[in-house]
Amino acid sequence: MAHHALRILHAASEAVPLVKTGGLADVVGALPQALKAMGHDVRVVIPGYRKAIAAAAKLGLTWGEHTMTIEAGGVDHRLGVGTVEIGGVPVHLLACNELFDRDGIYGPSPSNDYDDNARRFAVFSKGALALPGYLGWTPHVVHAHDWQTGLIPALLERGFNQALPATRSVFTIHNIAYQGAVWHFDMKLTGLDWALFNPLHLEHYGRLNLLKAGVVFADRVTTVSRTYAQEIQLAEYAFGLEAVTRGHSYKLSGIVNGIDSDAWNPANDKHLPASFELKKLAGKKTCRERLRDELGLVPDKRACLVSVVSRLVEQKGIDLIAEAVEPYILAGRMQLIVLGSGDVQLEHRLSQLQARHPGWVHVWYGYNDPLAHRIIAGSDLFLMPSRTEPCGLTQLYSLRYGTLPLVRHTGGLADTVVDVASGDGNGFTFGPVDLGHFSSVLDRALGLYEHFPNDWKAAMKRGMKADWSWTHVAKEYDALYRDICVVQ
Ligand code: ADP
Ligand code: GLC
Repeated sequence: MAHHALRILHAASEAVPLVKTGGLADVVGALPQALKAMGHDVRVVIPGYRKAIAAAAKLGLTWGEHTMTIEAGGVDHRLGVGTVEIGGVPVHLLACNELFDRDGIYGPSPSNDYDDNARRFAVFSKGALALPGYLGWTPHVVHAHDWQTGLIPALLERGFNQALPATRSVFTIHNIAYQGAVWHFDMKLTGLDWALFNPLHLEHYGRLNLLKAGVVFADRVTTVSRTYAQEIQLAEYAFGLEAVTRGHSYKLSGIVNGIDSDAWNPANDKHLPASFELKKLAGKKTCRERLRDELGLVPDKRACLVSVVSRLVEQKGIDLIAEAVEPYILAGRMQLIVLGSGDVQLEHRLSQLQARHPGWVHVWYGYNDPLAHRIIAGSDLFLMPSRTEPCGLTQLYSLRYGTLPLVRHTGGLADTVVDVASGDGNGFTFGPVDLGHFSSVLDRALGLYEHFPNDWKAAMKRGMKADWSWTHVAKEYDALYRDICVVQ
């Protein structure tokens, strides 16, 4: 190997295949394995949620003999350390009955948070930094993800674990909309000096802001696309943190996510009724027909099969879709499939749409990974009119599966989808978030589908050809780590 292998600890609140609410879990599941494939010594630590432990148990979870004791605000918590090897990477689960043995991850339902989340993730963050001592394994880099682990860079820099004087930290923002802005008295849980509770460090408008802690104290801050790294320095996108990101822009960069190209491979996808690839597209037709069948859509071959797989929240622009599609459905130009869950009002609007257009609209509420694969494989067009999108993974899955993405030009969508109007594109893009702009790009996409099948196919092929695998992306993180580490 050309350079020394590094010991790298990834700390996050989700990781595929143990626990997932969104793309963060995909990244934390895949990036460590790609780094390992480069020769690094990588470990992952996540909270031992009830569901994660159950999933890990099926994969050979073992428990360490001892527990770690972590103090927060005068209360001691005992953490059990579970370990399971996934793709050759040890994943540690920090179990604690009173904090993580519950049905939910962040709260009893997606729209409700647990009121002790500050304690849960403060203890997890401290536990992650105590883990190296427990394992007898000293990382060169701790790579922390999102607000749940924002305290890690701060605790590390302030010497929480004296045995890690040379360990560097990287903090990745997957979505700046979620900041972990908690009550100021939760400072007690961190054990950090109250003097840090000021606007230059941990305070943000009177609250303790855990995401800000990560940004301020990490040696490097990354986010999941180049465009988003710029956007989060603007008031329009930063949810109040623009001065913080701008102030730390000297150490901020954007690295576009990869995709797990084994799990998402149309040539070999166990969830599909037929496989297909660039040179053998017939299987896609079978996937399309069977999908219509499965979801009870009328087999009208002229209609473009349009889909959405998403958390149903305002960020994703689902309201625009609900507002715009009806005329196109009535004209017989498209059918709509939605898979997702979230906001009750949005779900209600989509249900009404389905009720008005049986056989033309199908909405499936909930989380269903096999169905997500079949939808992305069987559709013609995939909609992602996100107001903000740090990276987005489903547009990349769509590209790989020959399904043209229609996206708003923002964040990672802007870095990965090029409009066919350029002559060399792989999808459709629009700018302003309003009904007029969204409708006109949808109309244009349907028009291309109806009248220019060869152009459509050429765009599909360009999308399918591109390589979005983690192998390339891991090299960028490797360069970043080596930049901050003493070992070259
Ligand atoms: P975000 O993390 O903001 O939700 P991403 O596009 O990065 O957006 O990642 C979403 C991930 O969650 C993808 O892997 C997607 O396939 C998956 N996903 C979202 N909703 C569902 C659902 N209802 N069923 C199955 N998978 C879903
Ligand atoms: C966040 C973002 C999404 C991104 C994912 C993984 O959930 O909303 O855009 O793809 O993290 O980085």
